[in-house]
Amino acid sequence: MSYPGSNKKLVLITGAANGIGLATARKLASTKHDLFILDKDEEPLAKAVAGLTALGARTQSLVLDLSDSENIMPSLDKALGEAKVDKLVNNAGVGFARNVENTSFAEWDLTLDVNLKASFIMCKYFVPKMIAAGGGEIVNVASAASIVGLKNRVAYCASKAGVAGMTRAICADHAAEGIRINAIAPGTVDSTWIEKILADAPDPVATRKMMEARQLDGRMGTPEEVANGIAFLLGPEGRFINGSLFVMDSGLTAI
Ligand SMILES: NC(=O)c1ccc[n+]([C@@H]2O[C@H](COP(=O)([O-])OP(=O)(O)OC[C@H]3O[C@@H](n4cnc5c(N)ncnc54)[C@H](O)[C@@H]3O)[C@@H](O)[C@H]2O)c1
Repeated sequence: MSYPGSNKKLVLITGAANGIGLATARKLASTKHDLFILDKDEEPLAKAVAGLTALGARTQSLVLDLSDSENIMPSLDKALGEAKVDKLVNNAGVGFARNVENTSFAEWDLTLDVNLKASFIMCKYFVPKMIAAGGGEIVNVASAASIVGLKNRVAYCASKAGVAGMTRAICADHAAEGIRINAIAPGTVDSTWIEKILADAPDPVATRKMMEARQLDGRMGTPEEVANGIAFLLGPEGRFINGSLFVMDSGLTAI
């Protein structure tokens, strides 16, 4: 498995140019993994590759817009060549601050295409290959929004609830064939995502305070904390966990 000639496990991470995806790539680089990272944004992706390579991880990358559903499998075929992916992290995601009345069809489609359909296509592509190779591990990045309704996030909540359901169904179908697939449900995490939300907010200080207060320890999580959870689920210490929605939200969904 892995890159030809390498004895390390190869992990593919989507949306790895920033935030939780990049922190996960760094964490896995530090635990002797090779990496294949993809993102729609070329410049931060190239920067991520340089940083990961400097950490000693053999890293290849692909600029790919996951909303272009038809293009995902052909692009993977071309970019991966002989490389064999052992572990997959479906992390890329988008969200719009909209309710049912003001969500456009285009926003609904984009949210569902990137957050849910692309994760389905990635699983459809890799699960049979992993089974043929004797098994594999997958983590789908879901959200607290998989569990509770968040205000003004109708398409996002629908997409992330779908990710949790799809994860359980793939586990039910393929656990016996060596597939270990879990979803992780972070609370609010201080990533580039949140930076953008705060930049657009009429009162960024009040919005930040509100977002911090949702977690019961009164702060946002860090991308590194979520990366630790993903690495745990992917690794040998998580081997008894399958089909779960692993909640990491400092109590956001507990009350
Ligand atoms: N930040 C949070 O509070 C939070 C909470 C729960 C779940 N999540 C989930 O975590 C995941 C990562 O979020 P983050 O906070 O690190 O966000 P981020 O915006 O910092 O990173 C997301 C990455 O996904 C990439 N991406 C977006 N659309 C893409 C597309 N069409 N094709 C390819 N790449 C694309 C972006 O370019 C970016 O690099 C998302 O699935 C998000 O829903 C985030």
